Amino acid sequence: MASINEILDQFKQQLAATTKVADVLNLKAQILGKQGALSEILKGLKDATPEQRKTLGAEANVAKTQIEDLVGAKITTLEAAEINETLLKNKADFSLRDAVMEKGLQAAGMHPVTIVQREIEDIFLSMGFEVLDGPHIEDEWHNFEALNIPATHPARDMQDTFWFEDKKHLLRTHTSTIQVRGMKTRKPPFRFVGPGKVFRCERTDASHEMCFHQLEGMMVGEDVSVGHLIYFMKTLLSEIFKRDVEVRLRPGFFPFVEPGFELDIKCLICGGKGCSVCKQVGWVELLPCGMVHPNVLKAGGIDPDKYNGFAFGLGLDRLVMMRYGIDDIRLIHGGDLRFNSQFKTF
Ligand code: DAH
Repeated sequence: MASINEILDQFKQQLAATTKVADVLNLKAQILGKQGALSEILKGLKDATPEQRKTLGAEANVAKTQIEDLVGAKITTLEAAEINETLLKNKADFSLRDAVMEKGLQAAGMHPVTIVQREIEDIFLSMGFEVLDGPHIEDEWHNFEALNIPATHPARDMQDTFWFEDKKHLLRTHTSTIQVRGMKTRKPPFRFVGPGKVFRCERTDASHEMCFHQLEGMMVGEDVSVGHLIYFMKTLLSEIFKRDVEVRLRPGFFPFVEPGFELDIKCLICGGKGCSVCKQVGWVELLPCGMVHPNVLKAGGIDPDKYNGFAFGLGLDRLVMMRYGIDDIRLIHGGDLRFNSQFKTF
């Protein structure tokens, strides 16, 4: 049987020759794994004298640590090399932009949704919120069940869902899925927003798209009240519209909140007197919100007897359209450069 030193030497030679992380891990398994060379030596110890057992055992342990360290260092080197290679290959030369502009070609601009989304993220970051992301492809549990919308619930009809063939996965119909993922991965108190694309199987027209944007928000703690909700929404909207806005809450139904509200703002065009924008009501419906339903907290692993919270779902496209006077939502994903380049350039 090979000695520990021989094993170690051979390992070092082989390690030097490997160029892939997977091969390094294989090599490690060949030596330290259950049937590995070092393990074989340790198994042989049962027939040795107590003295031999002691020294060989200690040597084997030293060798094991050394192998683990060498493997760790090798993996770090390989990964660094890979990152450097990628960086070299994907180098971007931003000085080119001026050259492009001089030739009269179109330089890239920032998409209006991105502009507004980043602005809102900054407002929330300044109020101590985190910004979270979530997958577009979801399962039924995250999109419905965990949000208190069981299979038999009539609210499932409120959302026309794009299902995958397995009938288990879907394109998320709202960013409320981010609430579920956010709750699962943090402990109260916490507050976060989650912006992103959502998908609904709908006929498109000037105000409906199959893919649009929402920004979800959630705050959970020990004594969160409707007062907090109103405060944060008012601050947000005053920042977005750059003036003091008046808000009001009307009852609204969403299975994941209780009570649920529709939040309206006093019409910014007519100041509440009534005009065509607010359909003569003086108020414009802006965002649905409410106090998080105990079942939703439970699904997120949070004790509803101890904590409560508020949540809201802001429609980003509506805001973008209001801000820039865009009258057809289909322009947002149209990819028409004449549209896209009208907004801020880098
Ligand atoms: N998820 C809802 C939708 O897409 C919007 C919504 C309503 C989100 C109420 C919320 C909320 O967080 O509290 O229609």
